[in-house]
Amino acid sequence: MDVTNAEQTTVLITGGNKGLGFETARRLGEQGWTIFLGSRDEGRGRTAAAKLIAGGANVVMVPLDVTSDESVANAVRLVREHTDWLDVLINNAGAPGKIIAPAEATVDEIHSVYDTNVYGPIRVTHALLPLLQAAENPRVVMVSSGGSSFAVVTDPGQPVSKMHELAYSSSKAALNMITVRYAQALPNIKFNIATPGEIANRKFAATDMNNHTGQLTVTQGTDSIVRLAMTGTDGPTGTFIDRLGPVAW
Ligand SMILES: NC(=O)c1ccc[n+]([C@@H]2O[C@H](COP(=O)([O-])OP(=O)(O)OC[C@H]3O[C@@H](n4cnc5c(N)ncnc54)[C@H](OP(=O)(O)O)[C@@H]3O)[C@@H](O)[C@H]2O)c1
Repeated sequence: MDVTNAEQTTVLITGGNKGLGFETARRLGEQGWTIFLGSRDEGRGRTAAAKLIAGGANVVMVPLDVTSDESVANAVRLVREHTDWLDVLINNAGAPGKIIAPAEATVDEIHSVYDTNVYGPIRVTHALLPLLQAAENPRVVMVSSGGSSFAVVTDPGQPVSKMHELAYSSSKAALNMITVRYAQALPNIKFNIATPGEIANRKFAATDMNNHTGQLTVTQGTDSIVRLAMTGTDGPTGTFIDRLGPVAW
């Protein structure tokens, strides 16, 4: 792993108030990085930021709802008050949606999941591109899912192949393609995809999103995210990994 841990390193994490986003913030804060902790709810964000600051991290709480243009614009303004560049953007905020059988799924339900999981990362990335372009080695990490992979979903041995729903898996599949397209078009920024689980072992990380049924800790779950966030200048772009290595598309 390439490691970049200059004290001036800045990172913005969406959905940083709990779960994997919070753990990512904690780990990168330990590196001495400046953490812009995105949280759509100010109160939850302040509580989370206070915990990290008490642990010695350098944290700025940023109110940020990824489904709102106005909220994203305000977040960029706030980040600009503290820095002229952004080294790393982690698009972590995600919505699971309700697990509705395909026959019952409606556009409304799918739209709300896409708003967070697809349009959210585009909205935030687009707004932060100028600050990313101003960094020496800018990196964008998209937090996807094993369920985004055609190879995984069509493997009968994978539990997700029997989980019948449309919104979540297809939103994350779209996110993967969007990431690859960004990577191809913007070679000076590294765009990579992390999934928090261990695909080969059919494991995922225990968080509120899965009612803590995951078999991995949040620290294990964030290994792939932290690894991509710390990618050096010679690191990859347009890749998809879990904590064990490359994931099949
Ligand atoms: N846990 C796993 O093993 C696993 C597996 C595959 C993928 N993932 C992905 O990992 C990411 C983090 O999930 P998690 O497991 O840590 O779940 P989590 O504990 O439920 O955290 C989700 C985070 O996203 C935030 N969020 C949701 N909608 C948002 C919005 N519109 N704007 C801003 N923030 C929003 C939540 O904020 P609130 O607190 O305000 O709700 C929360 O901070 C997600 O993208 C998820 O799809 C997780």
